[in-house]
Amino acid sequence: MSDGFGRALVAGLARRPRRIPCRYLYDEAGSLLFERITRLDGYYLARAERALLRQASGRIAAMVGPGLRVVEPGAGAMVKTRLLLAALDRPHAYVPIDVAGPMITAAGRALAAEMPELAVTPVVADFTRRLPVPTDSREPVLVFFPGSTIGNLAPPAAVRLLARLRAAAGAGGWVLVGVDPVRDPVRLKAAYDDPEGVTAAFMLNLLVRANRELGATFDPGAFRHRMRWNAEAGRVEHFLISRRRQSVGVAGRRFHFRPGEAIHAEDCHKYPPAAFHGLAARAGLAPATTWLDAQELFSLHLLRQV
Ligand code: AVI
Repeated sequence: MSDGFGRALVAGLARRPRRIPCRYLYDEAGSLLFERITRLDGYYLARAERALLRQASGRIAAMVGPGLRVVEPGAGAMVKTRLLLAALDRPHAYVPIDVAGPMITAAGRALAAEMPELAVTPVVADFTRRLPVPTDSREPVLVFFPGSTIGNLAPPAAVRLLARLRAAAGAGGWVLVGVDPVRDPVRLKAAYDDPEGVTAAFMLNLLVRANRELGATFDPGAFRHRMRWNAEAGRVEHFLISRRRQSVGVAGRRFHFRPGEAIHAEDCHKYPPAAFHGLAARAGLAPATTWLDAQELFSLHLLRQV
């Protein structure tokens, strides 16, 4: 992983504008900081999705039927999974997929102890690159992709991932995706530029990680986090901004920064239902049902192959 990170960091700092793939935000410290983000008052996504899932899970269960194999790319701590599995009619198997091996192994064990009828088989893999799921499942498959993680991919990559989710679900299967529809700049600023500074720490941790894993010489205090709502592209953008003129060593190379120069660290695309249906259609998926909460803070899309 460090090797991949080193190559991506050097390539990302050499390009203009400078840009680093957001998956490198999630080392152990980054994952803990993201967990803290999900508990912030302003971060409506996590609360709204859980509430919507509680509200919709009965209908979802009735639509998808009994005895499913549930596949979850990026399963993490499996908090939302429990809500879904508890509502389904005798789910048969659960396949969590995540790069964080120790986390899904431990969480998978705990889940298997709570639901002894469920066969839990974690797979350690980076789902943004490949989805190693057997496509010969005898049970119908439900692929669960919550959290609006789809929004962290650029639209063409999101379409490619949705197509892989469709393939993993198979002809008779289902894909359930959680999507943030909010495009209100005030609400987005509260969620993504929190006064507590947790989002800033989450972004700056990328530099701390580079120092620790790659022997880079970033001074994290010499950068600050900047969040921007790009209304035209429908996305929140996160940058690390150099506070001064400086030069940084990474893997034997030197990178020079002007004051105010930016490293683009993450995008969070926001899709109102019609926009998401357009994206899903490009991946060969059609909505069976879409749920939106009364405040329109979150959406769940149950999709099938076209
Ligand atoms: C993981 N992902 C869905 C988060 C989001 O809201 O796009 C990542 C995040 N970045 C800053 N805050 C949260």
